Amino acid sequence: MTSAEIREAFLHFFETKGHTRVASSSLVPSNDPTLLFTNAGMNQFTDSLLGLEDRGYVRATSAQKCVRAGGKHNDLDNVGYTARHHTFFEMLGNFSFGDYFKKQAIEFAWEFLTTTLQLPKDKLYVTIYHTDDEAFDIWHKDVGLAADRIIRIGDNKGGLYASDNFWTMGDTGPCGPCSEIFYDHGDHIWGGLPGTAEEDGDRFIEIWNNVFMQFNRTADGSLERLPAPSVDTGMGLERISAVLQHVNSNYEIDLFKHLVQAAAQVVGIEDQGQPSLRVIADHSRSCCFLIADGVNPSNEGRGYVLRRIIRRAIRHGHKLGATGTFFYQMLQPLIDVMGEAYPQLIENSERIKAALIKEEEQFAKTLEQGLKVLETELANIKGKVIAGEVVFKLYDTYGFPADLTADIARERELTIDEAGFEVEMAAQRQRARDAGKFKVDYNSIVKVDAQTQFDGYTATQGQGQIIAIYKDGQPVNEVNEGDEALIVLDHTPFYAESGGQVGDTGTFKNDTGIFEIIDTQKSGNAFVHQGVVTVGRLSTTQKVDAIVQPELRKAISKHHSATHLLHAALREILGTHVAQKGSLVASDVLRFDFSHEQAIDLVQLQEIERRVNQEIMANTAVVTEVLDIETAKTKGAMMLFGEKYGETVRVLTMGTVKDDKAFSVELCGGIHVNHTGEIGLFKITSEGGVAAGVRRIEAVTGLHALSTVQKAESTIHQVNALLKAQKDQTVEKVHAQIEHSSVLQKQFDQLNQKLAHLHAIELIKDVKTIQGRSTLVATVQNTDAKALRHLHDSVKSKLDNAVIVLIAVDGDKVSLLASVAKQYTAVLKAGDIIKYLATELGGKGGGKPDLAQGGAPLNEKFDQVIAALPAWLESH
Ligand code: ALA
Repeated sequence: MTSAEIREAFLHFFETKGHTRVASSSLVPSNDPTLLFTNAGMNQFTDSLLGLEDRGYVRATSAQKCVRAGGKHNDLDNVGYTARHHTFFEMLGNFSFGDYFKKQAIEFAWEFLTTTLQLPKDKLYVTIYHTDDEAFDIWHKDVGLAADRIIRIGDNKGGLYASDNFWTMGDTGPCGPCSEIFYDHGDHIWGGLPGTAEEDGDRFIEIWNNVFMQFNRTADGSLERLPAPSVDTGMGLERISAVLQHVNSNYEIDLFKHLVQAAAQVVGIEDQGQPSLRVIADHSRSCCFLIADGVNPSNEGRGYVLRRIIRRAIRHGHKLGATGTFFYQMLQPLIDVMGEAYPQLIENSERIKAALIKEEEQFAKTLEQGLKVLETELANIKGKVIAGEVVFKLYDTYGFPADLTADIARERELTIDEAGFEVEMAAQRQRARDAGKFKVDYNSIVKVDAQTQFDGYTATQGQGQIIAIYKDGQPVNEVNEGDEALIVLDHTPFYAESGGQVGDTGTFKNDTGIFEIIDTQKSGNAFVHQGVVTVGRLSTTQKVDAIVQPELRKAISKHHSATHLLHAALREILGTHVAQKGSLVASDVLRFDFSHEQAIDLVQLQEIERRVNQEIMANTAVVTEVLDIETAKTKGAMMLFGEKYGETVRVLTMGTVKDDKAFSVELCGGIHVNHTGEIGLFKITSEGGVAAGVRRIEAVTGLHALSTVQKAESTIHQVNALLKAQKDQTVEKVHAQIEHSSVLQKQFDQLNQKLAHLHAIELIKDVKTIQGRSTLVATVQNTDAKALRHLHDSVKSKLDNAVIVLIAVDGDKVSLLASVAKQYTAVLKAGDIIKYLATELGGKGGGKPDLAQGGAPLNEKFDQVIAALPAWLESH
């Protein structure tokens, strides 16, 4: 069976068992700051497992793109050296959200493996968590597996529940004991059963993990029971393909064979057994998919991990003799084997290629710079060992592999401090782990079981019943005047922050009290209103009038619709590579982050503004429809990377229609104007870069836009008044001012030179003869380095064949300048005079034998050092 057939067989099997087929989510986890990359099929279902989200189905199945190259599950360093580790892989999974549990999960897995795939039963072994007698009984009694094929694994990772058979997604979140299924690849391959000393061999390979989700791990490490026991399973598509294609290594399956062959071709070698080819093949998948999902190589967070993977691939290519840019050529072979299942590779191919080429070119430059830095370090080295810090700096900043540094060191009979390098690396790994955690605790948000009906699309006022109140994080029945609290209603017109749109503000009122709301957030299906009781008291089960601040709401809706128009205009004017990277929609501003490489010049910005305003003036109706996801796709609706979409979606259409397509069609749950004309005026206030390949535009609408224009106008008025300029004469007058000041500067410099001349005549009266050389040592006040050079030139033109040392004091800085006539430089060098002075004064300097300069801070040693200079000159 091909990998594609196995993927389909799995999804189909679980569909026949009542599971809903769900598409893979993005590699960039949505709404989950605790995760670096999507690392398991269950990630997109976290809220359903925690009982916080009702998806309308309780059984699901998926083939999920996963990356394990950072954070808790990190396989990066193993890739290339084992038969089964990858940075990118596909995880087949079936899930139950409080529906079936252990028995059915185990039975489904067994049926699929032994009946659908017809794997021989005597090739299969299972592990269970050591105390999980229930799982043991199901495997032994219900499935009929012999007891000696069921292996109990305890806490083998140094702590309670730290076990290969207790699965956790990250440091917090849903978790539980698990049962893994192993396949025996045969005794011709080295390796032992799980739990034995040889378990790391390639003979017994884990193919499927069935996790019995029962707990939620909180930040303090304690386990809370989940509302309902659930199931999360994962089977690596590459591993099961290896089994069914009768090969031991994942790299020999159909899909990888093609990629390894392609890797050999692009680096130009024949021998396909080289481990480095496997690294390139594997890394091409994670890199292309990550870029397709919107990650760009950078120096932090996800972008940094991507950069490291790309560079690791390139280094392995270099090891095999590749030159120039080659890695990007892996994209087409990848499209050949995965493009059909993942069309995003094809849709984004230009962008992926460009990003890879750019990174390869940049890496070539950093390698060059690294070599220069290494040369400087080597020039200054004392002793025979290159410090670990230096090796690490070269590795970390310049991507310079430690073994390359070691090679160069060896050529010069030096070694590198490996232990010191390892210490730095360990510190680096710790930093990466800390970054991977993103430091947000999933459970710090109050968990609310309730469900709120949102009525705010059509109204800004309504009645709701208080169904929960929280004070200091605890549920309470009543809150009183002055109390800060979180209140949940059964119905609310308040929009909870989502999709970049800020939460609504406003007031709850009834006969007993008033609650002023400063923010509204979602927790599961509940809308949580955050605020303070300003009058009286409020208690649970009471009804309240909920009133959203209408002015702010209106301003927010203008900014939201303008954001959609801006997004469409950017794609029209800059190109369809523009994809949303982040958005903030508030009452006073909109901020839109998007992928684009270069800064946008003023002409383009004005064109974008004009295009958006054109659409506003066309005053078309904004249409909202609720459609199934497939229909929405056919309509060409823009979907955002990393967003979670359900089966039905809300589609916002606005703008003029051309070739049957409206200007903007986008999926969105937010609040919008009814007609684009309500936006009034759209004005961009800033454009800039926020990360490599990501630009940010801030803009304002309505009266905010008007006041931005008015402010700019009053600035020009003020400038004109200062310049005594007529309207439209501003630029001309500013030019004239600039010219005038440059004339003044020239006159100033000339006067300074004349002064220096006079000063020099004064100074040369003090010329002395030292060692038979005419020597002038002079200290001058209030003179900066530039004026000092003028002074020196004047002195020199008046003194033949002399030694001149000028010391200038300007504030707390000392400038030094020395020149020595050519005939003396064999014995006395200007560079040495300056080095001597600078060292004594605690500064820096140097130069040529006939002319040198330096600088130092002014300190208490100054007088003494200068007084000692003639003696020093005497002795040279
Ligand atoms: N979430 C489980 C795993 O990744 C199935 O192994």
